[in-house]
Amino acid sequence: MPLSLQNKKIIISAGASGIGWETAKICLSKGATVFVCDIDTKSIKKIKKHPLIKKKLFTYECDASDEYEVSEFFNQIKKKTKKIDALINNVGVAGPTGNIEKLNSDDWEQTLKINVISHFYFTKLAIPMLKKNKGGSIINISSTAGIMGFALRSPYAASKWAVIGMTKTMAIELGKFKIRVNAVCPGTIKGNRMKRVIRDKAKFLKVSKKFIENDFLSMSSINSWVSQTDIGNICSFLISNESERISGQVIPVDGNTIRVD
Ligand SMILES: NC(=O)c1ccc[n+]([C@@H]2O[C@H](COP(=O)([O-])OP(=O)(O)OC[C@H]3O[C@@H](n4cnc5c(N)ncnc54)[C@H](O)[C@@H]3O)[C@@H](O)[C@H]2O)c1
Repeated sequence: MPLSLQNKKIIISAGASGIGWETAKICLSKGATVFVCDIDTKSIKKIKKHPLIKKKLFTYECDASDEYEVSEFFNQIKKKTKKIDALINNVGVAGPTGNIEKLNSDDWEQTLKINVISHFYFTKLAIPMLKKNKGGSIINISSTAGIMGFALRSPYAASKWAVIGMTKTMAIELGKFKIRVNAVCPGTIKGNRMKRVIRDKAKFLKVSKKFIENDFLSMSSINSWVSQTDIGNICSFLISNESERISGQVIPVDGNTIRVD
């Protein structure tokens, strides 16, 4: 039987494009109602026109790293529902590229604020709604950079390791409320973000973008990019009733990444 998310209510941070939107589409196609916020007006306008929506997609423009704006997002959600089934803490930026002695503290702080502290804002507000639901699923999007060192990307790696620490801790704290918490670690995903990462790394190392692209591919033992759909599929499984005894896990979806450097 195909996996169903019928009547589930799901919140996704930064879900108007990239992995978040791909995940939202998969959840919508399986019968869920999805609440998406994003900082980008254009992306929000675009997804509102998608045929899958049928009154089951709610969008809100906000900066996920601004506590007040996140609380306003939740106030809007609460006008539609008191309970939710799942939260996907998806927001995350690549942060700066460079040797640690060349990076500046503003970029470091900004990366941690968006990639870690925003998850705290969302999770804190989502927990009472998950408790009202008598359980649910929180998925924190980390990265293979959250389980390995990542040369030239120290703030990003630090932020993604922090997400794993949050996941392990939240899973212990929330287990008694039947709230499961897992981290998903995407590998290198073909898309706009990786285009930017490849461009910055090629510029920094003074080599071609093709060289960097091939180098990224060779980091996974199956020599392949990961797709946004791969991540959406694992998220929908972790929200579904089929995964009801999976919690506290760190799940790489990365084609078996053997190095990230
Ligand atoms: N793309 C990859 O290769 C990759 C690999 C590993 C992990 N990840 C992680 O997956 C998650 C999603 O990545 P992605 O590639 O889809 O991202 P992305 O760069 O494509 O951005 C997705 C969305 O985030 C929104 N956004 C950015 N900052 C925001 C903010 N402060 N508030 C609200 N919205 C904001 C953007 O407007 C965009 O619509 C991130 O946590 C990222 O670190 C991505």
